[in-house]
Amino acid sequence: MKFPIGIFDSGYGGLTIFKEIHRQMPEYDYIYLGDNARAPYGTRSFEVVYKYTLQAVKRLFDEGCILIILACNTASSKALRNIQQNDLPLIDPQKRVLGVIRPTVESIDSLTKTRHIGILGTQGTISSGSYIMEIQKLFPDIKVTGEACPMWVSLVENSEHDKDGADYFVRQHLDAILKKDSLIDTVILGCTHYPLLINKIRKYLPSGVNIVSQGKYVAASLKDYLCRHPEIEERCSTGGNCRFLTTESEEKFSGMASLFLQENIKAERIYL
Ligand code: DGL
Repeated sequence: MKFPIGIFDSGYGGLTIFKEIHRQMPEYDYIYLGDNARAPYGTRSFEVVYKYTLQAVKRLFDEGCILIILACNTASSKALRNIQQNDLPLIDPQKRVLGVIRPTVESIDSLTKTRHIGILGTQGTISSGSYIMEIQKLFPDIKVTGEACPMWVSLVENSEHDKDGADYFVRQHLDAILKKDSLIDTVILGCTHYPLLINKIRKYLPSGVNIVSQGKYVAASLKDYLCRHPEIEERCSTGGNCRFLTTESEEKFSGMASLFLQENIKAERIYL
């Protein structure tokens, strides 16, 4: 018996990760779950993000997934460790849940020359300190500065990210992070929604600053994981089928997902 790979996000943002995973590994089957009814997660407490994420993970297990990617930095920051350490051993020790922070952090070593890094993320991701902890473990010489950008997810979820009004909010946080540390030469987009704002981010960052968009690193890391874990890989089904589940209106999700992915998507509504 073989199973699809599960990809979870609070809403649409994880589609930027899914897109790259699917591009690099189109042969597998995938189930994407967006908890749009309860997004955004970025301002919610640790307990709530953990509870919602665990519900979504259990649902993806019920749908048959044995490997799930939390394609959401907020969920990876606030729920991943608990789920891996406390829940998986009880639910099924054969199943796996992976996050997006570690693969993103692994990419920065070769990018930064000044060893000064900026992290842009939701309130939840920045205040959890998850990026700082992960970077200190791997590259203790790198200085990390975080900046929460509370409006950015809403700009994307409301399709305002390409409009003129978005410039104000983008510039505000880029100016703020460079004011905190003017030596930053690499900025991580530590929220899966932010790649949609990349044109404006590029416009307001000095030209020499690297912008790290997570999708390709998470996808490469998953590919590597599957190579290193043949016992998981051989249980992943192939056929290239993708299902999209949302906790909100299926029409709205289908419309937005089709924009994100530039292809026609038909979502199914579920209740968690
Ligand atoms: N896309 C999620 C992330 O990567 C956050 C969006 C939200 O606030 O729900 O952090």
